[in-house]
Amino acid sequence: AGGGGGEGKKILVVGTSPDFPPFEYIAKNGSVVGFDIELIRLVAKKAGYDDIEIRTMDFDALIPALEQGQIDVIAAGMTITEERKQRVDFTIPYWQVDQAILVRADSEFRPKSVEELSGKTVGVQTGTTAADYLNKIVEEKGLNINIKEYSSYVLAVNDLIAGRIDAVMVDTPVAKMFEKQYKDKLVISAVIETGEKYGFAVRKGNTELLDKLNKALEDIMNSPTWDELVQKYFGS
Ligand code: ARG
Repeated sequence: AGGGGGEGKKILVVGTSPDFPPFEYIAKNGSVVGFDIELIRLVAKKAGYDDIEIRTMDFDALIPALEQGQIDVIAAGMTITEERKQRVDFTIPYWQVDQAILVRADSEFRPKSVEELSGKTVGVQTGTTAADYLNKIVEEKGLNINIKEYSSYVLAVNDLIAGRIDAVMVDTPVAKMFEKQYKDKLVISAVIETGEKYGFAVRKGNTELLDKLNKALEDIMNSPTWDELVQKYFGS
């Protein structure tokens, strides 16, 4: 990776899964936008890159693409986990989230805990911490939850609205965006505190890039630009 731009231009190739508003999603005009995209663009500029190039793929394809050199960095609301740290290096954290359970507003089903998901079908995106969490809980507590995995959260939410599944488990800020987007159709019934932190990921051992990104990210997080960005995507 690193190519793709014009002559001698320094391009940072960014991989993302644009089904995750407000962090990364597809705008009406077809372009990939969101908090992560804008942030990584600012970080790249500050780190000396002329531009970024966005490559979209399913979330579970991001780490393999990074390892294979198809992208330089992952910007995808990716939670920093011990398991992932075996394969990639993460920047300093830039956001913190929990998990939310989304259900249909017109149904009576209002689970307040994961136990109450027993006997139900719950949608998650493949390869996410929500999928890991549910798989683990099913194993540990012997709960009878039917976990349905989707390549994208947008598809999971569509199936929930259509009544094909009973709930979706997704990161809290994203659940809030879907709730807002599908007002009267979706509602958050519970939040499960997982305290996950997002970081950008680079190839394992790519300390040169990691150091540059960390420095730029820290600078931006300590500047007024950060507050403007937060306000733009999370302000009401
Ligand atoms: N934070 C969760 C994880 O790291 C979900 C991320 C999903 N991101 C996306 N762009 N679809 O597993």
